[in-house]
Amino acid sequence: MIRMENVTKRYDANAAPSVDDLTLDVPEGSTVALIGPSGCGKTTTMRMINRLIEPTDGRIFVNGEDVTKGDPVKLRRHMGYVIQNVGLFPHMTIAENVAAVPKLLGWDQQKIVKRTDELLGLVGLDQQEILNRYPRQLSGGQRQRIGVARALAADPAVLLMDEPFGAIDPIARLRLQDEFKQILKRVRKTVVLVTHDLDEAIRLGDRIAIMRAGRIVQYDTPDAILSHPADEFVANFVGIDRAIKRLTLFSVADAMLAGAPPVSTTGVAASANLREALSLMIAANSDVLAVIDASGTVTGHLTRAAIFAI
Ligand SMILES: Nc1ncnc2c1ncn2[C@@H]1O[C@H](COP(=O)(O)OP(=O)(O)OP(=O)(O)O)[C@@H](O)[C@H]1O
Ligand SMILES: [Mg+2]
Repeated sequence: MIRMENVTKRYDANAAPSVDDLTLDVPEGSTVALIGPSGCGKTTTMRMINRLIEPTDGRIFVNGEDVTKGDPVKLRRHMGYVIQNVGLFPHMTIAENVAAVPKLLGWDQQKIVKRTDELLGLVGLDQQEILNRYPRQLSGGQRQRIGVARALAADPAVLLMDEPFGAIDPIARLRLQDEFKQILKRVRKTVVLVTHDLDEAIRLGDRIAIMRAGRIVQYDTPDAILSHPADEFVANFVGIDRAIKRLTLFSVADAMLAGAPPVSTTGVAASANLREALSLMIAANSDVLAVIDASGTVTGHLTRAAIFAI
């Protein structure tokens, strides 16, 4: 869907390139997280896709079309773009913000109003009174949701997001990430997400590209990156607790065994992740947990060995 081919960006002809001969394929309908230390070239890479930054060298294809040719303004109307904080137009109401791109595309008023209603529902802000407010009259989390709604307004196939949840407190961020994941289940998009939050990359990315000094050092699924970091740099970047982080990728249902536990023990829901289950085991000082459903009925059991084998 998106293909960057040997792309280089030099802001200064005499300095080292900010993006250095980078090749990246983002499959249709998938989410790719770009992650790496500050200054490694994440934002530059992403902004070359919608040509807010022009590459010095290389080619970029979206849906097989070379986007380095053609009109960049038109291109941007077909790509949603969400950035941290400054995303919304401050002098426009929320309704006007959401309608910005559909208006440019020439939609009639009735269609815009219908779409705006739909979008507010999608991002969980079902309150008509919000529409006439200005961005400064919203909370940070609400602004971020409107930012996502605006990016989705004209139903673009591609969504580019640069630290979209960066300015939000950790608890609200977790909720927004979950909601965003649910939204993506309903509206299939090809997403490039820039973040420096590894947990966010693991939670949202189908694949993660780890960048260092303008290059991609590893491009793989979260599972593969956490279980087999390509080199010392990636291993350090993902951290010494990577094996525990990896457990968040799996649920109790993925590892549970049939039958009741051999001893009476603490219960865990099948939907809990394996890190949570391991934590419960440690707290209970037990090698086994009972898996229980919402009514408290035991549906199976989970052993420490089964967690370690995943
Ligand atoms: N307009 C510019 N002119 C010159 N150099 C720039 C410009 N924009 C970015 N750079 C340089 O290019 C490199 C990559 O910057 P970029 O913004 O892509 O990094 P990043 O990975 O997004 O970092 P961060 O995590 O801090 O947002 C940095 O060394 C930066 O100083
Ligand atoms: Mg950046």
